[in-house]
This record gives sequence, structure tokens and C-alpha cells, in this order.
Amino acid sequence: MYEQVSHALLNDILDEFSHRVRREDLRHFYTRLGANFYAIHSLFEHLYGHREDFRTHMVNLTERLAQAYIEREPALKRLDMEREENHNWFLSQEWVGMALYCDGFAGNLQGLMQRLPYLQELGVNMLHVMPILRCPRGASDGGYAVSDFRDIDPRMGSVEDIRALAESMRRRGMLLTLDVVVNHTSNEHEWACKARAGDAEYQNFYYCFPNRDVPDMFEETLPEIFPETAPGNFTWDADMGKWVMTVFNHYQWDLNYANPAVFIEMLDIILFWANQGADIVRLDAVAFLWKKIGTRSQNEREAHLILQLMKDCCQVVAPGVLFIAEAIVAPSEIIKYFGEDAVIAKECEIAYNATFMALLWDAVATKNAKLLSQGIKNLPNKLDRATWLNYVRCHDDIGLGFDDADIRACDYDPYAHRRFLIDWFTGAFEGSPARGRPFGVNPKTGDARISGALASLAGLETALEQDDPHAVDQAIDLILSLHAMILSFGGIPLIWYGDELGTLNDNSFLEDINKAADTRWIHRPRIDWNRAERRHEQGSVEQRLFEGLKHLIAVRKNTPAFADFNNRELIDVANPHLFVFLRSHPSVSTNSVLVAANFDATPQYLDLDELGQRGLFRFGQVFDLVSGESPALFNNRIVIPPYHFYWLGNQRARSLG
Ligand code: GLC
Ligand code: GLC
Repeated sequence: MYEQVSHALLNDILDEFSHRVRREDLRHFYTRLGANFYAIHSLFEHLYGHREDFRTHMVNLTERLAQAYIEREPALKRLDMEREENHNWFLSQEWVGMALYCDGFAGNLQGLMQRLPYLQELGVNMLHVMPILRCPRGASDGGYAVSDFRDIDPRMGSVEDIRALAESMRRRGMLLTLDVVVNHTSNEHEWACKARAGDAEYQNFYYCFPNRDVPDMFEETLPEIFPETAPGNFTWDADMGKWVMTVFNHYQWDLNYANPAVFIEMLDIILFWANQGADIVRLDAVAFLWKKIGTRSQNEREAHLILQLMKDCCQVVAPGVLFIAEAIVAPSEIIKYFGEDAVIAKECEIAYNATFMALLWDAVATKNAKLLSQGIKNLPNKLDRATWLNYVRCHDDIGLGFDDADIRACDYDPYAHRRFLIDWFTGAFEGSPARGRPFGVNPKTGDARISGALASLAGLETALEQDDPHAVDQAIDLILSLHAMILSFGGIPLIWYGDELGTLNDNSFLEDINKAADTRWIHRPRIDWNRAERRHEQGSVEQRLFEGLKHLIAVRKNTPAFADFNNRELIDVANPHLFVFLRSHPSVSTNSVLVAANFDATPQYLDLDELGQRGLFRFGQVFDLVSGESPALFNNRIVIPPYHFYWLGNQRARSLG
């Protein structure tokens, strides 16, 4: 019955706009719309069906989809069809990503285009260009406060430049990822300006309140995201004479998704960037999309419905385009952003693996893999056709969002353990070589997070300063081991720009009034291209890191067991310093790979007898895929040097040419 209602509505809508939309080849559009309309209509009705103007919005939404489809270039439509046929294409081990700030990496978009060969030299073929849209001149949260969702920041270039970049990348077989900041706009956005001028329609795009009644109720349960720089969750706008919800910075106004017009506008923007050539759209801060009094207003069920609806709509217009969920939340919540069902309730194909990232840093500080293994053991299974974005560092801070139960299971006290990690990474702990800075310190809750460049957190900065070659060697080994973990875990590895060269903390942000209070800027570098040249000087730190990483990337691409088909098995070993897992090959079991990393400063043994039935690694010849050598074996135990890892296979890696 319900399906009939939806069907009849679809017919009416198509009828209505067959008078207005020019006759194009809409064949594929109609097929996809037909296949997805029931889901789209149901979700839209669930969210907005109580409104009198529901039907008008429903018609408007469908028309926008048709319009976006008509505007989609033939080359992109062909790509959509190829990807529909080979719908697991992004699970391959061949993808390796890098995220970067366009200005810090290459000045502007044209500069970035000229640097594509550098990325290819390293083996990177997926690029996340951090926000480049028009944003306020002063503080803009690194571009995450957008003033115009359809225009490029003139300092970076133009929409033409991004189209040219996308095209050049397509020819090179590289994927382009762009952000759509779906949760908020800058206070300089046209909608905010209209709201401020008193336009009720646009005030309804945000959460605006004449007095503190509602804000006070919200704040009883809302946590603070930036307690130091932007305490509270509401900002008084004197021009408007109202409080506006600003969960992040005071200049980032939260969008009101209870208003269907907001949903339609934001979807249209996603499709706009898909049509400029983005292969992947990173949806920022998705956990925050729905606000409810009396809750933390994160991970609400409606936030998931909105994402499903976005996915279904994108499936109609640009089915080749993937979504990344940026939801830095508890492991049991992160997993939900893939959707509840791969077919009928899909959300994002890719999600940040913040859990793994934070756990890796725990292993670095504790020099053991207890919490890392425990946390990964309890990481829920994900859907098919969904994959992780695995990273060691990114533009944001490191949050210590582990599960308290997991911390206790390792015999640590959650509060004391987090305190230790902060002390370790800020160098306050005796003997720690780390050089991070605290971020988001909240005296009310005792929470804190960590900023800092990978190399500085891993001890390279201290080692270089002390001119200690042994410590430099160890830091390099540790950095490469961390890269190796994200390259072999299963998912798309995402390298943070500069880390391929061992870029250290950059303290120059302290001199910029718009940045000084936000320590995340310490790890958002400007690449020194003269220094980058040293990657060609045998034995330099830059060369050892760049060449080391480049080799690991090449081996990954050549190792089908590293593709992500939920083919990872964590292996419990007695030695707490080791993190061990098996990546099985989908069809040829002898091509499976055993990953084993030692986080300790002394050599550790991996007892092959502990591998049980995974007997192919016992006694026989095992090879490290990275070096092509057999590691030292003693009494059926493999010796793993300090801060070292192995990718063990039964066969010598094929020549990498
Ligand atoms: C995301 C971004 C972060 C930003 C926040 C607010 O979490 O990764 O950098 O501060 O959203 O836009
Ligand atoms: C919080 C948010 C996350 C954001 C980060 C920025 O962790 O949950 O979305 O990236 O803050 O520091």
C-alpha cells in the first residue's frame, strides 16, 4: 500500500516536470530514481512528513536531482557506470591517500596541479584537498567555516582550477576528495547574513532563539567541543538580537536539518562538487547533524537518516561518488556511519578509523600493544562494501576516545591512563621524547586532547636536536612502523602531508592572532621544497622516510591480501609488546600475510607456535615482504627488532620493478 503511494507520487512528479525539464537522455536517471525513490520518499517523509509543505519540498528535491543529473558531464557519467559494474572498486589495496592543505603544500590550486608528480612518485593516488571554499579572512577554522559553498577561496584559485585539477587527476588514475562542511556555515555566509538582517526564512536555516530558555536547556547536556577557544554552544548575535547555536567556534553557525530546505540545499551542494569532478566527498562532523534537547546531540538516529537520504539521492545522480564520514566518536558509534545495511540502509562507504589511530598512539606511549589489541578486538564488524580510512595523523588533534571498559580490561585506570598519555605526548612525562601540545583542555571535565606533528610526537625532533643517531634511527623505525600499520590494516591509508618527509612541529602559528589559540596549527605545515629535495640524498632523514614509505606503498599495492574484504584476524599472542594480525587472501591462502609489530624499545619474540592452525607460518620459509629476507628464527620464534614490524608471507614478494 505504502509503496503504491510512493509510486503514484513519483508518477505525478515526473509528469509535472516532463513539461519543464528539457528532453535529454534521462534513461539512466529514471532507472536509478525508480530504484531509489521508495527509500528516498520514506526517509524524507519520516523526517519531514508532518509538515504541510511536505509535498512541495519532495517535488523540489526530485527536481534538483534531475537538474544535477542533467548537468553531470558525460565523462563522469561513464565513470559512474564503470563503478556501478565494479562496485567494490574502492576496497582494493591499490588505493593510497594523502590529505593536505593546498596552500601549505603548494601555495594554490595551480601549484598543487604541478605537484601531482611528487605524489605519484610516492605512490599516492587518492588526494583529500582540505577545505578551499570561500571563508572569512580572519579565523576560519582552517576553512571549515564556509562563506560560499559554490566558490573557491580566491587565494587558492577558481572553480575552473578545481575542474582542471580533477581532470588531470582522472587522467593519472588518481581520486579527488573534497569536503562538504554539512553541519554549519560561517557567520559570513549569505544565509547567515540574511538571518542577521531579520529574514525569518533564513533564521530558520539555523537554531536561533530570542532568549536563553532553550539554549540553557540544550547546554545542560551538550559537551563543549572547543572549551578553550569557544566555550558554550550558543553565541549572541547583537545584530539579529538572538542566540544562535554554534557548537564548534562562535563563527560557525549550526545548520538546522529539521528544515527540509536546509537538507535540499546541502544535498545540492554535495551534487555540485560531485559534478565538478570530486570522486569522494568528505562529510564533515556528521555526528552533529541532529540536535535534541536533553541529549549530547551527537549520533542521533535522525543524523543517520539524513546521511542515508543523502546517499540514496547521490546514488540517483552520481552513483560513482563515495562518501567519507568524519565522525570522531566512540568505536561502537563510528561503525554506524557505514549504515545499517549495505543495500537498503547505506550511509557512507568510508569512515575515519579514529579508534585505530588513537590506539596506535597508545601503543607508542606505553610501548606495548595491550590496549591496541583490546580495542581492535572490540571494534565491531563493519558492513560489506564499506572501508576504513586509516591514519596516523591528520589536521585535527588526537582525542583519547577509547572505551573505558577496554582501558580497565588492561588494568589501567581510565582517568590516570589518559593523564599519562597527555603527559607522555606533551613531553611532561620523565623520559618521553615527544613534543606535542595539549588541545581542547577542559578544566571542568579534566578532558584534553593532543596536537603535534607525527615526527615530533614520535621523538624525531628531540633525537635530531640532541644529535643522537641511535635515537634518530629508532624514531625513523617507529614512524615507518606506524605507516606500515595503516597500510596493512585493511582500508584506505591516509597519509598527512609532510609526514612522508618527517616534517616537524611548526610553531609559527603562535605569531598569527587567528591561529595562536588553536594548537592544531602546530601540525599543519608549509612544505619546505628545498628540504623535500633531500629525499634524493642517500642517508638523509628525509630520504630514509620518503624512500621507506614509498617502498611500503609499493609492496602494499602488490599484496592482494591487503585489500579490504573484512579479511583481518587479530591474533592473541602472549607477548604484550606485539600487535599481530593476519590478513588473509580472499582465494589463495598461501598468499595470506601476517603482520607483526613490536612497540617496545627492546627486541621481542613472536612465538610461531602461538599461531595455531594458521600453520602455514610455522617451520616453513617465511619471508618479510618488505625486505624480501627471512627474519631471524630461533626455536621457532621470530625476533622482531625494537620499533620494527614484519609483513610475513610464504612467498618472496614479486619483483616490484
Ligand atoms: C571537523 C574538522 C575540524 C573542524 C570541525 C568543525 O571535525 O575535521 O577540523 O574543526 O569539523 O568544522
Ligand atoms: C571533536 C569532534 C570532531 C572534530 C574535533 C576537532 O572531536 O567530534 O568532529 O574533528 O573535535 O578537534
